Amino acid sequence: MNAPKPTASEPNATDFTAPGRTPRKLHVVTHGCQMNVYDSARMADILRPLGYTTVDAPEGADMVIMNTCHIRERAEEKVFSALGRLRVMKEAQGGNMMIAVTGCVAQAEGEVLAKRAPYVDLVVGPQSYHRLPELIAAAHRKQGVVIDTEFPVDQKFDHLPDVAAPQGVVSYLSIQEGCDKFCSFCVVPYTRGAEASRPALSVLAEARRMVALGAREIALLGQNVNAYHGEGPDGAAWGLPRLLAEMAEINGLERLRYTTSHPNDMSDDLILAHRDNPKLLPFLHLPVQSGSDRILRAMNRKHDADHFRRMVDRLRAARADIAFSSDFIVGHPGETESDFQDTMRLVRETGFALAYSFTYSPRPGTPAAGLPQLADDVKTARLHELQAELRRQQDAFNAATVGLTTPVLFTGRGRYEGQIAGRSLWLQPVVVENPAELTGQIGTVKITRTNTNSIVGVLLTKEQIAA
Ligand code: SAH
Ligand code: SF4
Ligand code: F3S
Repeated sequence: MNAPKPTASEPNATDFTAPGRTPRKLHVVTHGCQMNVYDSARMADILRPLGYTTVDAPEGADMVIMNTCHIRERAEEKVFSALGRLRVMKEAQGGNMMIAVTGCVAQAEGEVLAKRAPYVDLVVGPQSYHRLPELIAAAHRKQGVVIDTEFPVDQKFDHLPDVAAPQGVVSYLSIQEGCDKFCSFCVVPYTRGAEASRPALSVLAEARRMVALGAREIALLGQNVNAYHGEGPDGAAWGLPRLLAEMAEINGLERLRYTTSHPNDMSDDLILAHRDNPKLLPFLHLPVQSGSDRILRAMNRKHDADHFRRMVDRLRAARADIAFSSDFIVGHPGETESDFQDTMRLVRETGFALAYSFTYSPRPGTPAAGLPQLADDVKTARLHELQAELRRQQDAFNAATVGLTTPVLFTGRGRYEGQIAGRSLWLQPVVVENPAELTGQIGTVKITRTNTNSIVGVLLTKEQIAA
């Protein structure tokens, strides 16, 4: 006979050694950036030894973790509507669903969350995930919401267990936390704390484990990852180029990239790494936000538009086939039509393979939120104009790859029967009609046509490649 299902008032919630105890189901929902994707995987790693196995849906789960993003108002609204749906499920399960809110909304709005959503059991900030087991036990003991949003002095990376589960052919590895740049619009320095780099050997050890678990491409993550300066084994700080060079020595790891970078931290050595490091992909996400010097100043970005142009030129000189993606904000306080046209000019001159663009969203506690705001219809009209140009550029970039023969890293099956899917050197999603199972392998593909968001190609045989 099965042991009775544990209830929310059970005193020792983390004791899974009792005979007959059924494994617990954990569902993790991830919003926001790739650093949250990494953190979500690590939370599952932390809870696995306690008997939690991950499931794909929240229904019937014993625990749901919602790892949240606070970057724009809409991201925050999503959290509250998703929580409303979880509440209904929790009630249908007689209260037997522990709900944890983690990530940047947890950090920024911990107390508000506890008041607005009292059916939440746990609120945990990004620096405290290693404490999840004890926090879960405390939540089982306590009536009301348990909140941990401290910024401990020691680094969170020191406390995380080894990566235990495969993340996939493309794996994300956080090498830096926090941000010290304080751009006028941005909540990250408040939700993630001060910038801190993880020691180089710990990064390398984790990368090797990821490769042993099937990773072929690793993306190194940080909000300012190009400012990485982790302690090396000799006690001296290693910059990102050195770390990338050591990473390139790992057997079985085929591709490397890093994201997100700030234009002010593109060092000479890092630019040269794009020429010299054979595993570094010819693709760089380099957010510029605006093409207007006036607005860049107001944003506290500490560089002008020409600095960005110079960086792009130097990177293209180092690696001719490098492609760029970027982030843009339109409608920052003070942005005039002429400022916006400066952004359009920079976009037209640069040529992006991909870009993300947003209307400015005032965030509580950030300097720009207190300034007079632009009207919503002005912001929306500018966004549409910018996105039309960015779409045109993305289509042009994809169209220019038709006819090319290029390596593709296969990541899994395609959406339709008989298709396999992968990524080109420029991170374009590629689909190929091929019945063979090639996940984790790199194949040579001739690109034949483009779809709206992907490109299509045929896999060449060894003989065709040699011919
Ligand atoms: N560290 C990265 C950005 C992280 S946030 C960098 O410095 O570039 C990802 C993107 O969200 C930003 O690049 C910016 O374009 C956008 N963003 C951040 N705050 C925003 C806000 N308040 N309103 C609209 N977009 C915002
Ligand atoms: Fe935010 Fe600016 Fe830091 Fe990027 S660099 S995370 S935009 S404060
Ligand atoms: Fe969002 Fe936090 Fe990442 S605010 S973008 S989840 S660092």
